[in-house]
Amino acid sequence: MKKRFYITTPIYYPSARLHLGHAYCTTLSDVLARSKRERGFDCYFLTGADEHGLKIEKNALEAGVTPQQFVDHIVEGFYQLWDLLRITNDDFIRTTQDRHIKVVQNAFTRMLNKGDIYLGKYEGWYCKYCEAFWTETQVGPDHICPDCQREVQKAEEEAYFFKTSNYVDSLMKFFDKNPKFLIPESRKNEMINTFIKPGLDDLCVSRTSFSWGVPVLENNKHVVYVWLDALTNYISALGYGSDNDELFKKYWESEDCEIIHILGADITRFHAIYWPMFLESLGLRKPDREFVHGLLMMKDSKMSKSKGNVVNPYPLVERYGVDSVRYYLTREINFGSDGSFSPEQFVERVNADLANSYGNLLNRTISMIGKYFNGVIPAYKGHVTDFDASLESVIDLTISNYETLMDDLKITDAIATVNELVNRANKYIDETTPWALAKDENKKDELASVMNHLARAIYVASRLYHPVLVTASDKAFEQLGLSLEAADYKNIRDSHLLDNLQTNKGNPLFPRLDPTVEVPFINELMK
Ligand code: MSP
Repeated sequence: MKKRFYITTPIYYPSARLHLGHAYCTTLSDVLARSKRERGFDCYFLTGADEHGLKIEKNALEAGVTPQQFVDHIVEGFYQLWDLLRITNDDFIRTTQDRHIKVVQNAFTRMLNKGDIYLGKYEGWYCKYCEAFWTETQVGPDHICPDCQREVQKAEEEAYFFKTSNYVDSLMKFFDKNPKFLIPESRKNEMINTFIKPGLDDLCVSRTSFSWGVPVLENNKHVVYVWLDALTNYISALGYGSDNDELFKKYWESEDCEIIHILGADITRFHAIYWPMFLESLGLRKPDREFVHGLLMMKDSKMSKSKGNVVNPYPLVERYGVDSVRYYLTREINFGSDGSFSPEQFVERVNADLANSYGNLLNRTISMIGKYFNGVIPAYKGHVTDFDASLESVIDLTISNYETLMDDLKITDAIATVNELVNRANKYIDETTPWALAKDENKKDELASVMNHLARAIYVASRLYHPVLVTASDKAFEQLGLSLEAADYKNIRDSHLLDNLQTNKGNPLFPRLDPTVEVPFINELMK
């Protein structure tokens, strides 16, 4: 297994504020990055903003500011949201930064010199009001501009093209040789059947109809097509081709590093088809994994800014706390499938898993250790009963299943195994009946072992939940009397870790939410 990881999110358009759909992708990527780091791996995590293009130029014009002022303002909001959600990105790339622009220009020149990019003519349907080209499908049979609804004309303009035909065979071989490159598997078939088999056109990689983009050095009437510009962020952020390229060498060029792009289903084509081709043209290695997550829906339609049906993540996090929101996103919506956001499910999920199961387990256990052992966790003495043995084996299995599932990017399933451990531990209380053992002097050893096993189950669950429950897990460690250093993942298999620790009773981690109050509140946010 590789020891180093480079994990990226898509770079989002700062055309408007981000919504819960974007927060979903970044949060899940963050959970993955944190889990790698906690297990001791070196992990570099990147997110950013994709700031060029006609839409941004137009939005800025409407707002009466320059495009740069416009994006600067919106990107401020990105930083705030990622802070609020406790995202641990190592860098934030903006496509308007000099370090990025230089790399895009350099890449364009290399592809041009190699003969993979050539100057040709772009034919399409042109809207003179919006100064934009549209495709046959976009204008429909009546030839109407999808933006302003006015008539469009057939027109052509000079443009640069990328010769996809040079790389199609090689891409197909790459897909065959690397069955885990594009996950879920169904996405690969979709790409092949929808785009490659019918014949892939050369890709138009420059525009002359607007100017808010990276200028083509060889021909300054042109700006680089926004997707060639945007995809390059994954290497420009590491300093590719610059004097400062240590990160590029350390992550992109190192055999020891697994490169993982996380993206939504809407942008699979660009990542799975064109990005590997661009990289091959530049003589660079391709990513190891592209994980396509599903989209968050609102009442069956995709949550999107243009539809105006978005959930604003800020008030949600402010009211319920970062842990509950991160948990809901990770656990409720299976990473890899579409899912819909529902206020009822939000409240139910937080109550069932966090308040009733996990929070309650901690609460009950710390109270019992207080009552029966003056707050000191009894030392581990092996398993005293079959119940202890069975809980121990569930703990061990949970750790190994969790690691395998996380390595396989099955994040929702990994977190679900931790739920099962917590449920199992609650059941263990019912099976062992500590209140009855406490009444019998001869059962003191049994009772001590139950308390030790419960404390250990809580520690392991909190450790494994930590990439998601970024604040509550630390509070659980504190209640167990563990310093953050002692709670480190490297000690996860140490059965004696909790021996004789003095516990600290604290407030409940997740107070129960009242659905009759909270569901209407969240519904209000969605209006
Ligand atoms: N700028 C491009 C990406 C360039 S990457 C080199 C872009 N930006 S975007 O702002 O539209 O964000 C796209 C990504 O945001 C999606 O791929 C997905 O990861 C996330 N989501 C946007 N809407 C979403 C939902 N409704 N649900 C889940 N994720 C969503 O495309």
